[in-house]
Amino acid sequence: MIIRRLTLKNYRRFRSLDLELPENIIGILGSNGSGKTTIVESIGWCLYGNRIRRTDKQDIRSQFCSAGDVTAVTLEFDLQGESYRIERELRGKAATVEAAIYRGDVDEPIAVQERGVNEMVEKLLNLDYRSFFVSVFARQKDLAALSMFRPEERKKSIARLINIDAIERARKNVRTDKNIKNEKKSGIEAHLADEKELTAKKKELQRELKEADIEIEKKKKQFSAVRKELSDLKAEFESQSKKREQFLQLSSQIENKKNLKQEFESREKQLEKEIEQILSAKKEYEEQKGKLKEFEKVQRKKERMDRDASRFSALQAYQQEFKRVEAQVTREKVRMSRLISELKDADAIREHLEKTDARIAKLKERQKQLQKTQLENQGQLKSIETKGKEARQRKNKIEELGPESPCPVCTRPLKDHYEKVLGQFNAELLDLAGRYREVEKAKEAIVAEIQDVEDQLKKLNEERDALLQNREEFRQRKKQRDESEKELVSYQKQLKEIEERIAKLGTVEYNEKIHIQVKKDFKELYQIRDRLLRHEENIKRLEQTREELTRVQMSLAQYAAEIKQETKKMTELGYDAESFEKTRNVLDEKQKELDELNEEIHQLEQRKIAITKDIEHLTADIEKNSQLREQISQAQNEITYLEALDYHFGIFRQELSGRIRPMIAARASELLHLTTQGKYSILELDEDYNIFLYDQAERFPLARFSGGEEDLANLCLRIAISQVVAERSGRSQINFIVLDEIFGSQDEHRRELIMNALQQLATQFRQIFIITHVENIKDSLPVVIFVREKSLLESEAVLV
Ligand SMILES: Nc1ncnc2c1ncn2[C@@H]1O[C@H](COP(=O)(O)OP(=O)(O)OP(=O)(O)O)[C@@H](O)[C@H]1O
Ligand SMILES: [Mg+2]
Repeated sequence: MIIRRLTLKNYRRFRSLDLELPENIIGILGSNGSGKTTIVESIGWCLYGNRIRRTDKQDIRSQFCSAGDVTAVTLEFDLQGESYRIERELRGKAATVEAAIYRGDVDEPIAVQERGVNEMVEKLLNLDYRSFFVSVFARQKDLAALSMFRPEERKKSIARLINIDAIERARKNVRTDKNIKNEKKSGIEAHLADEKELTAKKKELQRELKEADIEIEKKKKQFSAVRKELSDLKAEFESQSKKREQFLQLSSQIENKKNLKQEFESREKQLEKEIEQILSAKKEYEEQKGKLKEFEKVQRKKERMDRDASRFSALQAYQQEFKRVEAQVTREKVRMSRLISELKDADAIREHLEKTDARIAKLKERQKQLQKTQLENQGQLKSIETKGKEARQRKNKIEELGPESPCPVCTRPLKDHYEKVLGQFNAELLDLAGRYREVEKAKEAIVAEIQDVEDQLKKLNEERDALLQNREEFRQRKKQRDESEKELVSYQKQLKEIEERIAKLGTVEYNEKIHIQVKKDFKELYQIRDRLLRHEENIKRLEQTREELTRVQMSLAQYAAEIKQETKKMTELGYDAESFEKTRNVLDEKQKELDELNEEIHQLEQRKIAITKDIEHLTADIEKNSQLREQISQAQNEITYLEALDYHFGIFRQELSGRIRPMIAARASELLHLTTQGKYSILELDEDYNIFLYDQAERFPLARFSGGEEDLANLCLRIAISQVVAERSGRSQINFIVLDEIFGSQDEHRRELIMNALQQLATQFRQIFIITHVENIKDSLPVVIFVREKSLLESEAVLV
């Protein structure tokens, strides 16, 4: 495979890039981060798409792009004489991948879409993307890692590079499969039953089934025999039952009649007794008939005497009443005469009261007069006092002013009249004082008289009160006297009435002794009469009783005849209770036997169903078991196959690594020889891919050599691995290799040697990409692509 042309659009740092690539050693030069690795990485992406490392779809799209821009890579390459073109793009926001691969000049793609193109590439290159990257990209990072790994990790890493670990993985898968199969097998085995036992059981059940059939047949025969017997017995039993019914009916009839007969017999006895009694009563009646007349006589006498007795007792009561009222009259009369004598003083008291009233009136009149005079006296005294007071005031005033005081009549000064006027005043005052004394004397006399009158009035009033009380007492007595008078009248009326009643009764003759005797006789006769009357009644019933007796006796005879007849019928029936019971028992037993047989048959049939079910289950179990056995043997086959596979994988791996290791060592030795100008020509690898170098004829582990020599040995090993991988995948397909920053610690001379060595490989690798930031190597490179940073985000590349 030779890369002819690579164009990029909006791919990482490159807005656009178009490189036509020759067959040669091509240097890609530029500073760190300028985009060198990006260029070769884009080849991988175009071929294999997003499966390669570091290529998330969104990461690829240039940072300076907008979401709508298209990111595209076009790769033109030659392969086995054919030219191919792959176009791969990312479109839209979602970064959908569009891809197409074209062969030659044909416009129609040979495959489209991501999957189609990927599959086509793998087919054409005969390399999966992993192997492709191992064989094509050798990076400084990988080389450094190789030397730093511990033996086990290195071995693993190399195994991965040369893809031996795929066998290991396959082997592991085989083992996992084997384990799963084994588990499955033991799982099935756990469910496996003892088939012999199952078959034996089944046979046993089949035998039981046959036995049950035979038994059922036997029981059914027995059943029909018993049923026949039972039907015969039933006929017999029915005829006996009929007889029994008749028998029972007759016996109950007889029983009833016997009961009736008994009743009639006792009735007969009763009637006979009754007749006897009536006859004896008749005899007694005849004997004592005369007593009935005697009774009537005594009864009349008794009634008469009863009447006399009641009149007699009434008379006695009247007489007693009369006496009582008489006594009342006497008592009342005494009371009356006492009251009359007491009332004699009544007139004197009335007269006295009238006189007293007249005196009181007179005194009251006098009292009024005196009171009036007293009031007049008081008025006179008051007026004298006033006049005195005025005279004294005037006199005092004149005395104060002396003779100059004005005249009380003419108002001129008194002068000489002064003494005269004073004298007049004194005389007036003297006169007034005399009059005052007089009036006062009169007043005292009147007060004394008033007192006397009052005293008299008090006394008279007391007297009057006493008289009034006496008068009231008399009034009461008078009232009593009137009442007593009335009482007396009423008593006398009563007495008169009683006398009348006594007179009405007339003369009463009554002898109590005789009356008592009559009553006693009456009582005795009454009892006899009562008894005789009852006899009379009974005698009347005699005929009737006799007739009933005849009827009863006739019925008795009839019942006796009937009982005899029915008893005879019963004997003729020939019913035997014992034999009936026996038949019934036998019948019951037979029925029981039949039921039991039926039940047994039913049980047997049930048992048959159960056995049949069991047999079905067992058959299913046996079937299942043989299926399980089939599954087990199938699993076992698979296990055996997987075991064999595991074994062969083991051997294969051993052989492969045994053969590849010397191949890698040989290739690496060649490279080492070239790059060290024959100083070191033999590189050996042990089983863990530890590198040993021969210095002169002696073998040393790599650690014994310088750092640069160590790196070189590792580079040789890495390139050798690429060679071997490429060879193993078909020598013709892969003709290019990318060596990314492989110079590392190599000095200029060594770098020259490496370059020379690489040129030696030109037969195998027709295009060798050497990526380096070491600028001065450009002179030893036939073709150089310079990668430069155009701006902070964008780079450009030019081929020189
Ligand atoms: N989508 C992108 N858009 C723009 N720049 C990107 C994008 N993806 C990666 N880069 C930048 O590209 C540069 C990486 O390029 P690359 O790995 O090719 O560099 P280099 O030249 O190989 O560097 P070195 O010499 O260190 O290996 C980084 O600076 C990274 O940030
Ligand atoms: Mg790089």
